[in-house]
Amino acid sequence: MNKMMPSFRVLYLYLLLLCFIESLTSQDTITQGNFIRDGETLVSSNGFFELGFFSPGSPTLRYLGIWYRKSPSTVFWVANRNISINNDNGKGLLRLNDQGVLLLLDAKNNTMWSSDNSSTTTRIKANNPFAQLLDTGNLVVKNDALDPVWQSFDYPCDTLMPGMKLGWDQETGLDKVLSSWKSSDDPSQGDYINKIDRKGYPQYFQLRGSKVMYRAGSWNGKTFTGLPNPNPDPLVTSDFVVNEKEVYFTSELRNNSIFSRFVLLSSGVAQRFDWVIQTSSWQVTSTASLLQCENYAFCGANSICNSSDNPVCKCLRGYEPKNFKEWNVSVWNSGCTRRVSLDCGGGDGFKLYTSIKLPDTSFSWYNTTMNLGECKKTCLQNCSCAAYSNLDIRGQGSGCLLWLGQLLDMRQFPEGGQDLNVRVPASEQDHFRNEGRGSIGKKTVAGIVVGCAIFVMSFMILGLTLIAWKRKLRNSGKEVMDIPIFDLSIITKATDNFSTINKLGEGGFGPVYKGTLEDGQELAVKRLSAKSGQGIEELKNEIVLIAKLQHRNLVKLLGCCIVEDEKLLIYEYMPNKSLDQFIFDVTRSNLLDWPNRWNIIHGIARGLVYLHIDSRLRIIHRDLKTSNILLDAYMNPKISDFGLARTFWDDQVDANTDKIVGTHGYMPPEYILHGRFSMKSDVFSFGVIVLEIVIGKKNRGFLDQEYGLNLLGHAWRLWIQGRPMELLDECLKESCNESEVIRCIHVGLLCVQQKVEDRPDMSTVVLMLNGEKLLPQPKVPGFYTADGDGLADSKHEISQNEISQTMLEGR
Ligand SMILES: *[C@@H]1O[C@H](CO)[C@@H](O)[C@H](O)[C@H]1NC(C)=O
Ligand SMILES: *[C@@H]1O[C@H](CO)[C@@H](O)[C@H](O)[C@H]1NC(C)=O
Ligand SMILES: *[C@@H]1O[C@H](CO)[C@@H](O)[C@H](O)[C@H]1NC(C)=O
Ligand SMILES: *[C@@H]1O[C@H](CO)[C@@H](O)[C@H](O)[C@H]1NC(C)=O
Ligand SMILES: *[C@@H]1O[C@H](CO)[C@@H](O)[C@H](O)[C@H]1NC(C)=O
Ligand SMILES: *[C@@H]1O[C@H](CO)[C@@H](O)[C@H](O)[C@H]1NC(C)=O
Ligand SMILES: *[C@@H]1O[C@H](CO)[C@@H](O)[C@H](O)[C@H]1NC(C)=O
Ligand SMILES: *[C@@H]1O[C@H](CO)[C@@H](O)[C@H](O)[C@H]1NC(C)=O
Repeated sequence: MNKMMPSFRVLYLYLLLLCFIESLTSQDTITQGNFIRDGETLVSSNGFFELGFFSPGSPTLRYLGIWYRKSPSTVFWVANRNISINNDNGKGLLRLNDQGVLLLLDAKNNTMWSSDNSSTTTRIKANNPFAQLLDTGNLVVKNDALDPVWQSFDYPCDTLMPGMKLGWDQETGLDKVLSSWKSSDDPSQGDYINKIDRKGYPQYFQLRGSKVMYRAGSWNGKTFTGLPNPNPDPLVTSDFVVNEKEVYFTSELRNNSIFSRFVLLSSGVAQRFDWVIQTSSWQVTSTASLLQCENYAFCGANSICNSSDNPVCKCLRGYEPKNFKEWNVSVWNSGCTRRVSLDCGGGDGFKLYTSIKLPDTSFSWYNTTMNLGECKKTCLQNCSCAAYSNLDIRGQGSGCLLWLGQLLDMRQFPEGGQDLNVRVPASEQDHFRNEGRGSIGKKTVAGIVVGCAIFVMSFMILGLTLIAWKRKLRNSGKEVMDIPIFDLSIITKATDNFSTINKLGEGGFGPVYKGTLEDGQELAVKRLSAKSGQGIEELKNEIVLIAKLQHRNLVKLLGCCIVEDEKLLIYEYMPNKSLDQFIFDVTRSNLLDWPNRWNIIHGIARGLVYLHIDSRLRIIHRDLKTSNILLDAYMNPKISDFGLARTFWDDQVDANTDKIVGTHGYMPPEYILHGRFSMKSDVFSFGVIVLEIVIGKKNRGFLDQEYGLNLLGHAWRLWIQGRPMELLDECLKESCNESEVIRCIHVGLLCVQQKVEDRPDMSTVVLMLNGEKLLPQPKVPGFYTADGDGLADSKHEISQNEISQTMLEGR
């Protein structure tokens, strides 16, 4: 027994030492004149948050940040987000100087970041300052009177934390905004901003540069009017404050041990993450939806967007489309104008709209104490007042909000939302529109019946919501994803262990297999081979987003299966395979007559408009080609492989990329020569596809012997010589409509123009195809010579005259 004693003592000493080290390393404070070095950290007293140096990407680039200790890759705040510290020849440190200013120094003592800059040195200097990492994750500098002199919560990065105030300090003019990272490994300021706008009645905006992309809207006492979630949030309480001193949004945790954060991702998608204690992981609890109606002012002025309706945009009562031509081809942004002008005397009335996302309040007026009756009266007194509503919907509702002029960015929600009273002239009021006074009795009866039905239905909806909610609670901890997760064994069986017999083809990201489930349902299974730089969680999040993209000209993603190295995406099966298998095949090309091809061209264009403009993800496809256009049983085109570009390449819209990924013959010159990719690159690929569909030949491999031109050059030559019909595929001669063919060739040539800025965007392409827009003369196409894709030629500018000259000489 005695022999054991020394080892116990050693153990005891060791434990003591451990405690000592622990108390040394887990300090939460830096005092005046002191510092922490790279490698050391501050830890908040509750142990949740840690401040220190980290590298999100390359290990030589160091940043100072605050992260969640249980998930160190979750960084909330970065001090030197725009300028990294080089870790090549030494280590950086964070020092608190005698004036209470935090300084971030690199190994050569250069100040890389400071909590104070020269223009604010007039502020009162702190006495005996210290910097502390609080239990909320806020890094504060305080002086001996314990007033915060500076706090990190005043300078948010991409994460809104409970306790932060997003918005304005009206006295100092400090505007606290969320701004996205450039990419997941670069914290410098990216493209997107979430902020509170103070114009009119304050509201929450998402901007890209200076352009409003999305508006969560104004605060109605419970929530932002653009987020009609009727259930109270189980984890956080939120509030919005408007007074002379401040205008801000803030939230608090209901239970401090269950953490939640709101992040503006570099793709511009905002997501809420809640920490799940049981699984020690983040769960995405809400994510922006990607409906067309979520785009700011999607339907233009004075119209309502209803995602479940067709058409999605409808003018308000008393208004009509400003531009019927555009409106008829689903181009909505010109909006609606008054059909009948207002009386502005006593005759005007109001039409009540329910479940509405209230319009943009930039041009609005409000009063917090008026009731709805006074509000209506005030609206009638001013001729430019177009609508009114309650300011606050709690209880009976209170306050008054009036809109002056146009009504922008309204939506109809399936449930939730708010009442909006829209001003209409006498002739548009309900009692004028429904003539026949005798029917009032019937109406009352009908009203009662409808009322009862609504009453019963609201109980049913309430019940369903509760059930759904309970189910969600039961599931929490496991993955709550919006798309089905397939079992690997089921997919293996369905594809006969990925047998080559079932292989449908090879896409840019891996092979595609046909699968048949036991119940007979057919699937297309894409087996991703590319090594994604992303973690599995990020990949899943991305796939959930992409699964939400729904359009009849996009292939539908049915689910996924991600097990370690095996990453499978499961799509609907397209019985007619891809477009290239028809148009380039001597016999099968006869199966696609001109009306079919015309329909296919339109469908591809609409799918691209959705990807580029209407969906909030704004996806550039990057590998559009005829083999990526699949055909359903009715020969409707569906674009495939969209969105993968986001997941597997980078997500910048105007990216400069080193590696060229894509398919020769479809890539525009600026991409091959300079690696520059934009939506206009997809437009180029679209133009190539259109010409291939009309001509029935592949751009790559086509050679006009006489002139040494490729398909684009050949098409352009015949175009400028006024012989476009000679391009048409023989098999279409009988079924074709000449003016449609010429328009397609014309639009195709506009899309493949050499200069990026000359190419139309996809919504203009749709208008052009519909004949709703005057078509300019196309200029020289991107690549037009057969050898080397015309690469050498396009390095210098070629004028239209030059090429016409060459061609004429060649004749
Ligand atoms: C980072 O740079 C952007 C401009 O690129 C600037 O607007 C922003 O204020 C900078 N942020 C910080 C914390 O210096
Ligand atoms: C940086 O500053 C510290 C303290 O002022 C000093 O001890 C150190 O030598 C300096 N290092 C360099 C590389 O100048
Ligand atoms: C630096 O000063 C300017 C002007 O007062 C202010 O807008 C900016 O936010 C300050 N930056 C920091 C990091 O304090
Ligand atoms: C907060 O959550 C923790 C963990 O779920 C629980 O143990 C605790 O009782 C909660 N506290 C309150 C006040 O609800
Ligand atoms: C929105 O669309 C749905 C589906 O067509 C319809 O039931 C609903 O009444 C529409 N709402 C409005 C205000 O038109
Ligand atoms: C738009 O469509 C409506 C209804 O289908 C039709 O009456 C009108 O003539 C069309 N207008 C134009 C300019 O095409
Ligand atoms: C709001 O309306 C009330 C009642 O009409 C009025 O007494 C008050 O002065 C108004 N406040 C403002 C700021 O206009
Ligand atoms: C209507 O309201 C606007 C904005 O408050 C104001 O500029 C205008 O003078 C008002 N017009 C009338 C007739 O009161």
